[in-house]
Amino acid sequence: METIKIGIFGLRRGATFIDSIKVCNGEIVAVCERDEKLIAEVKNDLPKNTVFFTDFDSFIAHPMDCVLLANFFHEHTPYAIRCLEKGIHVLSECTASSTLAECVALARTARNSNAKYMLAENYPFMLFNQEMKRICDGGTLGKIVYAEGEYNHPMDWYDTAAVRSIRPYETHWRNYLPRSYYITHSLAPLMYVTGARPLRVSAMAINDPLPADCPTLSHVSDIAAIITTQNSDGSVFKVTGCSAFGAHGNSYRFCGTNGQIENLRGMGDTLMLRYNAWQVPEEMKEVNCYVPDWNEEDREDAAHAGHGGGDYFVIRHFFDCIRNDTDPCFDYRFAACLSAVAILAHRSILHGCQPFDIPDFDKDEDCKKYENDTLSPFCYSDGTMPTIPCCSVVDYAPTEEQTVAFNKV
Ligand SMILES: NC(=O)c1ccc[n+]([C@@H]2O[C@H](COP(=O)([O-])OP(=O)(O)OC[C@H]3O[C@@H](n4cnc5c(N)ncnc54)[C@H](O)[C@@H]3O)[C@@H](O)[C@H]2O)c1
Repeated sequence: METIKIGIFGLRRGATFIDSIKVCNGEIVAVCERDEKLIAEVKNDLPKNTVFFTDFDSFIAHPMDCVLLANFFHEHTPYAIRCLEKGIHVLSECTASSTLAECVALARTARNSNAKYMLAENYPFMLFNQEMKRICDGGTLGKIVYAEGEYNHPMDWYDTAAVRSIRPYETHWRNYLPRSYYITHSLAPLMYVTGARPLRVSAMAINDPLPADCPTLSHVSDIAAIITTQNSDGSVFKVTGCSAFGAHGNSYRFCGTNGQIENLRGMGDTLMLRYNAWQVPEEMKEVNCYVPDWNEEDREDAAHAGHGGGDYFVIRHFFDCIRNDTDPCFDYRFAACLSAVAILAHRSILHGCQPFDIPDFDKDEDCKKYENDTLSPFCYSDGTMPTIPCCSVVDYAPTEEQTVAFNKV
Protein backbone atom coordinates (compact mmCIF):
# COMPACT_ATOMS: atom_id res chain seq x y z
CA MET A 1 0.00 0.00 0.00
CA GLU A 2 1.45 3.36 -1.07
CA THR A 3 2.50 5.55 1.89
CA ILE A 4 0.61 8.86 2.00
CA LYS A 5 2.60 11.85 3.26
CA ILE A 6 0.34 14.09 5.33
CA GLY A 7 0.74 17.41 7.16
CA ILE A 8 -1.42 18.28 10.18
CA PHE A 9 -2.58 21.88 10.66
CA GLY A 10 -3.83 22.41 14.22
CA LEU A 11 -2.84 19.94 16.92
CA ARG A 12 -5.74 19.92 19.33
CA ARG A 13 -8.17 17.92 17.22
CA GLY A 14 -5.39 17.08 14.74
CA ALA A 15 -3.46 14.96 17.27
CA THR A 16 -6.42 12.62 17.77
CA PHE A 17 -5.92 11.30 14.22
CA ILE A 18 -2.29 10.21 14.71
CA ASP A 19 -3.04 6.51 15.36
CA SER A 20 -5.55 6.20 12.51
CA ILE A 21 -3.08 7.85 10.11
CA LYS A 22 -0.39 5.31 11.10
CA VAL A 23 -2.78 2.34 10.79
CA CYS A 24 -3.73 3.47 7.27
CA ASN A 25 -0.06 3.73 6.25
CA GLY A 26 0.17 7.50 6.39
CA GLU A 27 3.37 9.31 7.33
CA ILE A 28 3.04 12.57 9.26
CA VAL A 29 5.80 14.61 7.63
CA ALA A 30 4.91 18.06 8.95
CA VAL A 31 2.86 19.82 11.59
CA CYS A 32 1.77 23.46 11.79
CA GLU A 33 0.80 24.61 15.28
CA ARG A 34 1.53 27.76 17.26
CA ASP A 35 0.93 26.28 20.69
CA GLU A 36 4.26 24.80 21.84
CA LYS A 37 2.59 22.92 24.69
CA LEU A 38 0.53 20.90 22.21
CA ILE A 39 3.64 20.08 20.19
CA ALA A 40 5.48 18.87 23.29
CA GLU A 41 2.54 16.61 24.18
CA VAL A 42 2.63 14.68 20.88
CA LYS A 43 6.28 14.84 19.82
CA ASN A 44 7.01 11.30 21.03
CA ASP A 45 4.07 9.88 19.05
CA LEU A 46 5.33 11.36 15.76
CA PRO A 47 8.12 10.16 13.45
CA LYS A 48 11.59 11.55 14.24
CA ASN A 49 11.72 13.35 10.88
CA THR A 50 8.42 15.25 11.32
CA VAL A 51 9.08 18.95 10.73
CA PHE A 52 7.28 21.55 12.90
CA PHE A 53 6.10 24.92 11.61
CA THR A 54 4.23 27.88 13.04
CA ASP A 55 3.62 29.53 9.67
CA PHE A 56 1.16 27.96 7.19
CA ASP A 57 2.93 29.02 3.98
CA SER A 58 6.26 27.48 5.08
CA PHE A 59 4.33 24.38 6.21
CA ILE A 60 2.71 23.73 2.81
CA ALA A 61 6.00 24.40 1.05
CA HIS A 62 7.22 21.18 2.72
CA PRO A 63 6.75 18.16 0.41
CA MET A 64 3.48 16.37 1.24
CA ASP A 65 0.55 14.70 -0.56
CA CYS A 66 -2.21 16.05 1.63
CA VAL A 67 -3.14 18.25 4.58
CA LEU A 68 -5.48 17.68 7.49
CA LEU A 69 -7.05 21.05 8.36
CA ALA A 70 -7.84 20.95 12.08
CA ASN A 71 -7.41 24.66 12.78
CA PHE A 72 -10.20 26.92 14.06
CA PHE A 73 -13.74 25.86 13.08
CA HIS A 74 -14.52 29.00 11.09
CA GLU A 75 -11.15 29.47 9.33
CA HIS A 76 -10.82 26.40 7.09
CA THR A 77 -11.75 27.76 3.66
CA PRO A 78 -8.85 30.15 2.97
CA TYR A 79 -6.35 27.41 3.90
CA ALA A 80 -8.22 24.75 1.91
CA ILE A 81 -8.10 27.02 -1.14
CA ARG A 82 -4.34 27.59 -0.78
CA CYS A 83 -3.73 23.82 -0.63
CA LEU A 84 -6.03 23.01 -3.56
CA GLU A 85 -4.34 25.68 -5.67
CA LYS A 86 -0.99 24.03 -4.93
CA GLY A 87 -2.34 20.57 -5.85
CA ILE A 88 -2.30 19.34 -2.23
CA HIS A 89 -5.27 17.13 -1.27
CA VAL A 90 -7.37 18.52 1.58
CA LEU A 91 -9.09 16.75 4.46
CA SER A 92 -10.93 19.53 6.29
CA GLU A 93 -12.46 19.38 9.72
CA CYS A 94 -15.94 20.81 10.09
CA THR A 95 -17.14 23.29 9.11
CA ALA A 96 -16.07 23.63 5.49
CA SER A 97 -17.00 27.33 5.29
CA SER A 98 -18.19 29.97 7.73
CA THR A 99 -19.89 32.24 5.17
CA LEU A 100 -21.80 31.73 1.93
CA ALA A 101 -19.09 33.68 0.08
CA GLU A 102 -16.58 31.11 1.34
CA CYS A 103 -18.83 28.25 0.16
CA VAL A 104 -18.77 29.81 -3.33
CA ALA A 105 -14.99 30.32 -3.28
CA LEU A 106 -14.36 26.78 -2.04
CA ALA A 107 -16.63 25.24 -4.68
CA ARG A 108 -15.07 27.27 -7.49
CA THR A 109 -11.55 26.28 -6.43
CA ALA A 110 -12.29 22.61 -5.74
CA ARG A 111 -14.06 22.24 -9.13
CA ASN A 112 -10.97 23.48 -10.94
CA SER A 113 -8.33 21.67 -8.88
CA ASN A 114 -6.76 18.29 -9.58
CA ALA A 115 -6.39 17.81 -5.84
CA LYS A 116 -9.15 16.14 -3.83
CA TYR A 117 -11.22 17.85 -1.17
CA MET A 118 -12.96 15.90 1.59
CA LEU A 119 -14.79 16.98 4.73
CA ALA A 120 -13.45 14.99 7.70
CA GLU A 121 -16.97 14.16 8.85
CA ASN A 122 -16.77 11.15 11.15
CA TYR A 123 -20.28 10.60 12.54
CA PRO A 124 -21.71 8.91 9.41
CA PHE A 125 -19.05 6.22 9.87
CA MET A 126 -20.08 5.30 13.41
CA LEU A 127 -21.08 1.66 13.73
CA PHE A 128 -24.82 2.21 14.08
CA ASN A 129 -24.90 4.73 11.22
CA GLN A 130 -23.11 2.33 8.88
CA GLU A 131 -25.62 -0.35 9.84
CA MET A 132 -28.58 2.02 9.29
CA LYS A 133 -27.18 2.81 5.84
CA ARG A 134 -26.98 -0.92 5.08
CA ILE A 135 -30.62 -1.39 6.11
CA CYS A 136 -31.89 1.69 4.21
CA ASP A 137 -29.93 0.71 1.08
CA GLY A 138 -31.39 -2.83 1.37
CA GLY A 139 -34.84 -1.39 0.62
CA THR A 140 -36.95 -3.25 3.20
CA LEU A 141 -38.02 0.06 4.82
CA GLY A 142 -39.44 1.26 1.50
CA LYS A 143 -38.87 4.88 0.45
CA ILE A 144 -37.20 6.93 3.22
CA VAL A 145 -39.52 9.92 3.66
CA TYR A 146 -38.41 11.40 6.99
CA ALA A 147 -35.27 11.34 9.14
CA GLU A 148 -34.09 12.88 12.40
CA GLY A 149 -30.54 13.69 13.54
CA GLU A 150 -29.62 14.83 17.03
CA TYR A 151 -26.14 15.80 18.23
CA ASN A 152 -26.57 16.74 21.85
CA HIS A 153 -23.51 17.94 23.74
CA PRO A 154 -24.38 19.66 27.05
CA MET A 155 -21.56 20.69 29.37
CA ASP A 156 -21.23 21.41 33.08
CA TRP A 157 -20.93 25.21 33.05
CA TYR A 158 -19.36 25.14 36.52
CA ASP A 159 -16.48 22.88 35.38
CA THR A 160 -14.07 25.81 35.02
CA ALA A 161 -11.15 23.70 33.75
CA ALA A 162 -13.26 22.18 30.95
CA VAL A 163 -14.76 25.54 29.97
CA ARG A 164 -11.33 27.23 29.88
CA SER A 165 -9.81 24.32 27.97
CA ILE A 166 -12.18 24.42 24.98
CA ARG A 167 -13.07 28.15 25.16
CA PRO A 168 -9.73 29.65 26.26
CA TYR A 169 -10.47 33.34 25.50
CA GLU A 170 -13.48 35.51 24.74
CA THR A 171 -13.15 35.70 20.95
CA HIS A 172 -12.69 31.93 20.58
CA TRP A 173 -15.12 30.50 18.00
CA ARG A 174 -16.95 28.35 20.57
CA ASN A 175 -18.06 31.51 22.44
CA TYR A 176 -19.72 32.85 19.26
CA LEU A 177 -20.97 29.56 17.78
CA PRO A 178 -24.65 29.78 16.79
CA ARG A 179 -26.39 26.53 17.64
CA SER A 180 -27.12 25.77 13.99
CA TYR A 181 -23.51 26.13 12.77
CA TYR A 182 -22.05 22.92 14.20
CA ILE A 183 -24.49 20.93 12.07
CA THR A 184 -22.36 18.26 10.42
CA HIS A 185 -22.71 15.63 13.15
CA SER A 186 -26.51 15.77 13.09
CA LEU A 187 -27.12 16.34 9.37
CA ALA A 188 -24.28 14.57 7.53
CA PRO A 189 -25.33 11.06 8.66
CA LEU A 190 -28.83 11.71 7.26
CA MET A 191 -27.43 12.87 3.90
CA TYR A 192 -24.96 9.98 3.80
CA VAL A 193 -27.51 7.27 4.62
CA THR A 194 -30.27 8.52 2.32
CA GLY A 195 -28.30 10.28 -0.43
CA ALA A 196 -30.77 13.20 -0.19
CA ARG A 197 -29.57 16.83 -0.40
CA PRO A 198 -31.34 19.66 1.48
CA LEU A 199 -32.96 22.22 -0.85
CA ARG A 200 -34.75 24.46 1.66
CA VAL A 201 -34.32 25.19 5.37
CA SER A 202 -36.12 26.86 8.24
CA ALA A 203 -35.31 26.85 11.95
CA MET A 204 -36.16 28.07 15.43
CA ALA A 205 -34.01 28.38 18.52
CA ILE A 206 -34.53 27.18 22.08
CA ASN A 207 -33.20 29.88 24.38
CA ASP A 208 -32.26 29.31 28.01
CA PRO A 209 -29.71 31.73 29.48
CA LEU A 210 -26.68 30.24 31.24
CA PRO A 211 -26.56 30.53 35.07
CA ALA A 212 -25.67 34.14 35.94
CA ASP A 213 -22.68 33.15 38.11
CA CYS A 214 -21.03 30.38 36.02
CA PRO A 215 -17.51 30.93 34.61
CA THR A 216 -18.10 31.64 30.93
CA LEU A 217 -17.44 34.20 28.20
CA SER A 218 -20.10 32.73 25.90
CA HIS A 219 -22.12 35.12 23.76
CA VAL A 220 -24.70 32.41 22.98
CA SER A 221 -27.61 31.59 25.29
CA ASP A 222 -29.51 29.42 22.79
CA ILE A 223 -29.28 25.76 23.78
CA ALA A 224 -30.51 24.29 20.50
CA ALA A 225 -31.52 25.10 16.95
CA ILE A 226 -34.37 22.94 15.73
CA ILE A 227 -33.86 22.82 11.98
CA THR A 228 -36.07 21.34 9.25
CA THR A 229 -35.00 20.79 5.68
CA GLN A 230 -36.94 19.85 2.57
CA ASN A 231 -34.83 17.62 0.38
CA SER A 232 -34.02 16.69 -3.18
CA ASP A 233 -35.95 13.38 -2.95
CA GLY A 234 -39.08 14.93 -1.40
CA SER A 235 -38.15 13.82 2.13
CA VAL A 236 -37.96 16.06 5.21
CA PHE A 237 -35.17 16.05 7.84
CA LYS A 238 -35.32 17.42 11.37
CA VAL A 239 -31.93 18.07 13.01
CA THR A 240 -30.65 19.89 16.08
CA GLY A 241 -27.33 21.37 15.03
CA CYS A 242 -25.27 21.09 18.21
CA SER A 243 -27.74 21.18 21.10
CA ALA A 244 -27.17 21.27 24.83
CA PHE A 245 -30.17 19.84 26.62
CA GLY A 246 -29.99 16.81 28.93
CA ALA A 247 -28.61 14.24 28.30
CA HIS A 248 -25.51 13.74 26.16
CA GLY A 249 -25.69 11.61 23.01
CA ASN A 250 -26.22 11.50 19.28
CA SER A 251 -29.18 9.76 17.73
CA TYR A 252 -30.64 9.21 14.29
CA ARG A 253 -33.93 7.86 12.97
CA PHE A 254 -34.87 6.90 9.43
CA CYS A 255 -38.54 6.44 8.58
CA GLY A 256 -39.60 4.70 5.39
CA THR A 257 -42.99 3.85 3.95
CA ASN A 258 -42.72 0.27 5.34
CA GLY A 259 -40.92 0.80 8.66
CA GLN A 260 -38.23 2.65 10.53
CA ILE A 261 -34.82 2.24 12.16
CA GLU A 262 -33.19 4.25 14.95
CA ASN A 263 -30.31 3.99 17.41
CA LEU A 264 -31.69 3.98 20.92
CA ARG A 265 -30.73 6.96 23.09
CA GLY A 266 -28.50 6.03 26.02
CA MET A 267 -28.19 2.41 24.83
CA GLY A 268 -24.75 2.37 23.17
CA ASP A 269 -24.85 0.94 19.65
CA THR A 270 -28.28 -0.71 20.08
CA LEU A 271 -30.63 -0.34 17.13
CA MET A 272 -34.41 -0.71 16.92
CA LEU A 273 -35.72 -1.80 13.52
CA ARG A 274 -39.50 -1.98 13.13
CA TYR A 275 -41.87 -2.75 10.28
CA ASN A 276 -45.56 -2.24 9.59
CA ALA A 277 -47.32 -5.45 10.69
CA TRP A 278 -48.31 -6.16 7.08
CA GLN A 279 -44.87 -5.45 5.59
CA VAL A 280 -42.50 -7.56 7.69
CA PRO A 281 -39.79 -9.07 5.45
CA GLU A 282 -39.13 -12.79 5.52
CA GLU A 283 -36.85 -13.90 8.38
CA MET A 284 -37.48 -10.62 10.28
CA LYS A 285 -39.79 -9.80 13.15
CA GLU A 286 -42.10 -6.81 13.38
CA VAL A 287 -39.79 -5.39 16.12
CA ASN A 288 -36.04 -6.16 15.98
CA CYS A 289 -33.66 -4.86 18.63
CA TYR A 290 -29.96 -5.63 18.15
CA VAL A 291 -26.34 -4.47 18.41
CA PRO A 292 -24.55 -4.53 15.04
CA ASP A 293 -20.90 -5.58 14.74
CA TRP A 294 -17.95 -4.40 12.65
CA ASN A 295 -16.67 -6.44 9.72
CA GLU A 296 -13.89 -8.80 10.79
CA GLU A 297 -11.22 -6.75 8.95
CA ASP A 298 -12.29 -3.38 10.47
CA ARG A 299 -12.98 -4.48 14.04
CA GLU A 300 -9.60 -3.87 15.66
CA ASP A 301 -8.67 -0.61 13.91
CA ALA A 302 -12.15 0.87 14.34
CA ALA A 303 -12.37 -0.12 18.00
CA HIS A 304 -9.22 1.88 18.83
CA ALA A 305 -10.19 5.02 16.91
CA GLY A 306 -12.04 8.02 18.32
CA HIS A 307 -15.75 8.77 17.85
CA GLY A 308 -16.94 5.19 17.73
CA GLY A 309 -14.50 4.23 14.95
CA GLY A 310 -15.54 7.20 12.81
CA ASP A 311 -12.07 8.82 12.87
CA TYR A 312 -10.46 5.67 11.43
CA PHE A 313 -12.93 5.44 8.52
CA VAL A 314 -12.44 9.13 7.67
CA ILE A 315 -8.69 8.60 7.22
CA ARG A 316 -9.12 5.27 5.45
CA HIS A 317 -11.66 6.62 2.97
CA PHE A 318 -9.61 9.76 2.26
CA PHE A 319 -6.40 7.79 1.69
CA ASP A 320 -8.26 5.26 -0.51
CA CYS A 321 -9.54 8.14 -2.67
CA ILE A 322 -5.98 9.45 -3.12
CA ARG A 323 -4.52 6.00 -3.82
CA ASN A 324 -7.28 4.95 -6.25
CA ASP A 325 -8.02 8.39 -7.72
CA THR A 326 -11.70 8.20 -6.74
CA ASP A 327 -14.09 10.91 -5.50
CA PRO A 328 -14.54 11.34 -1.73
CA CYS A 329 -18.08 10.70 -0.47
CA PHE A 330 -17.96 14.01 1.44
CA ASP A 331 -16.72 16.20 -1.41
CA TYR A 332 -16.96 20.00 -1.73
CA ARG A 333 -20.64 19.79 -2.82
CA PHE A 334 -21.57 17.77 0.25
CA ALA A 335 -19.43 19.96 2.53
CA ALA A 336 -20.62 23.32 1.16
CA CYS A 337 -24.24 22.15 1.34
CA LEU A 338 -23.81 21.36 5.06
CA SER A 339 -22.26 24.77 5.71
CA ALA A 340 -25.01 26.52 3.74
CA VAL A 341 -27.75 24.76 5.72
CA ALA A 342 -26.01 25.79 8.97
CA ILE A 343 -25.63 29.43 7.89
CA LEU A 344 -29.14 29.79 6.45
CA ALA A 345 -30.75 28.00 9.40
CA HIS A 346 -29.27 30.69 11.66
CA ARG A 347 -30.48 33.37 9.24
CA SER A 348 -33.93 31.79 9.47
CA ILE A 349 -33.76 31.99 13.29
CA LEU A 350 -32.80 35.68 13.09
CA HIS A 351 -35.69 36.32 10.64
CA GLY A 352 -38.62 34.71 12.51
CA CYS A 353 -38.26 31.18 11.01
CA GLN A 354 -38.26 32.42 7.42
CA PRO A 355 -37.38 29.60 5.00
CA PHE A 356 -34.33 29.92 2.73
CA ASP A 357 -33.38 27.98 -0.41
CA ILE A 358 -30.04 26.18 -0.21
CA PRO A 359 -27.77 27.31 -3.06
CA ASP A 360 -26.43 24.80 -5.57
CA PHE A 361 -22.74 25.73 -5.67
CA ASP A 362 -22.33 24.05 -9.05
CA LYS A 363 -24.75 26.61 -10.55
CA ASP A 364 -23.27 29.86 -11.78
CA GLU A 365 -26.37 31.92 -10.89
CA ASP A 366 -26.36 30.66 -7.27
CA CYS A 367 -22.62 31.37 -6.94
CA LYS A 368 -23.10 34.91 -8.30
CA LYS A 369 -25.94 35.52 -5.84
CA TYR A 370 -23.81 34.60 -2.80
CA GLU A 371 -20.21 35.36 -3.84
CA ASN A 372 -20.15 38.54 -1.72
CA ASP A 373 -22.25 37.25 1.19
CA THR A 374 -19.68 37.53 3.96
CA LEU A 375 -22.12 37.84 6.89
CA SER A 376 -20.63 36.02 9.86
CA PRO A 377 -21.18 35.74 13.63
CA PHE A 378 -17.48 35.01 14.34
CA CYS A 379 -14.32 36.92 15.33
CA TYR A 380 -11.48 36.00 12.94
CA SER A 381 -7.72 35.77 13.53
CA ASP A 382 -7.14 38.73 11.17
CA GLY A 383 -9.24 40.98 13.45
CA THR A 384 -12.48 40.85 11.42
CA MET A 385 -15.37 41.17 13.87
CA PRO A 386 -18.91 39.67 13.73
CA THR A 387 -21.36 41.20 11.26
CA ILE A 388 -24.46 39.37 12.54
CA PRO A 389 -25.62 38.27 16.03
CA CYS A 390 -24.66 34.73 17.10
CA CYS A 391 -27.74 34.20 19.26
CA SER A 392 -31.53 34.50 18.87
CA VAL A 393 -31.43 37.00 21.76
CA VAL A 394 -29.46 39.39 19.62
CA ASP A 395 -27.90 41.53 22.36
CA TYR A 396 -26.98 38.61 24.65
CA ALA A 397 -23.48 38.89 26.18
CA PRO A 398 -21.69 37.35 29.18
CA THR A 399 -22.55 39.02 32.48
CA GLU A 400 -19.92 40.75 34.59
CA GLU A 401 -20.32 38.01 37.20
CA GLN A 402 -19.66 35.30 34.57
CA THR A 403 -16.59 37.16 33.29
CA VAL A 404 -15.14 37.59 36.79
CA ALA A 405 -15.76 33.89 37.53
CA PHE A 406 -14.03 32.87 34.27
CA ASN A 407 -10.97 35.02 34.98
CA LYS A 408 -10.63 33.98 38.64
CA VAL A 409 -7.43 31.90 39.12
N1 LIG B 1 -15.18 15.83 14.04
C1 LIG B 1 -15.05 15.85 15.34
O1 LIG B 1 -15.47 14.94 16.02
C2 LIG B 1 -14.35 17.02 15.97
C3 LIG B 1 -14.03 17.02 17.32
C4 LIG B 1 -13.34 18.15 17.85
C5 LIG B 1 -13.02 19.21 17.03
N2 LIG B 1 -13.37 19.16 15.71
C6 LIG B 1 -13.01 20.28 14.82
O2 LIG B 1 -11.60 20.47 14.86
C7 LIG B 1 -11.28 21.83 14.65
C8 LIG B 1 -10.38 22.33 15.78
O3 LIG B 1 -11.07 22.30 16.99
P1 LIG B 1 -10.29 22.04 18.38
O4 LIG B 1 -11.23 21.39 19.30
O5 LIG B 1 -9.02 21.35 18.08
O6 LIG B 1 -10.01 23.47 19.03
P2 LIG B 1 -9.37 24.84 18.50
O7 LIG B 1 -10.12 25.31 17.34
O8 LIG B 1 -9.34 25.70 19.67
O9 LIG B 1 -7.88 24.47 18.08
C9 LIG B 1 -7.32 24.86 16.87
C10 LIG B 1 -5.81 24.71 16.92
O10 LIG B 1 -5.26 25.19 15.69
C11 LIG B 1 -4.14 26.03 15.95
N3 LIG B 1 -4.08 27.08 14.92
C12 LIG B 1 -5.12 27.80 14.43
N4 LIG B 1 -4.71 28.67 13.48
C13 LIG B 1 -3.36 28.49 13.38
C14 LIG B 1 -2.36 29.10 12.57
N5 LIG B 1 -2.66 30.07 11.67
N6 LIG B 1 -1.08 28.68 12.69
C15 LIG B 1 -0.76 27.70 13.58
N7 LIG B 1 -1.67 27.08 14.39
C16 LIG B 1 -2.97 27.49 14.29
C17 LIG B 1 -4.42 26.66 17.32
O11 LIG B 1 -3.21 27.04 17.97
C18 LIG B 1 -5.15 25.51 18.05
O12 LIG B 1 -4.26 24.69 18.76
C19 LIG B 1 -12.60 22.58 14.55
O13 LIG B 1 -12.93 22.73 13.22
C20 LIG B 1 -13.59 21.61 15.21
O14 LIG B 1 -14.88 21.76 14.69
C21 LIG B 1 -14.01 18.10 15.18
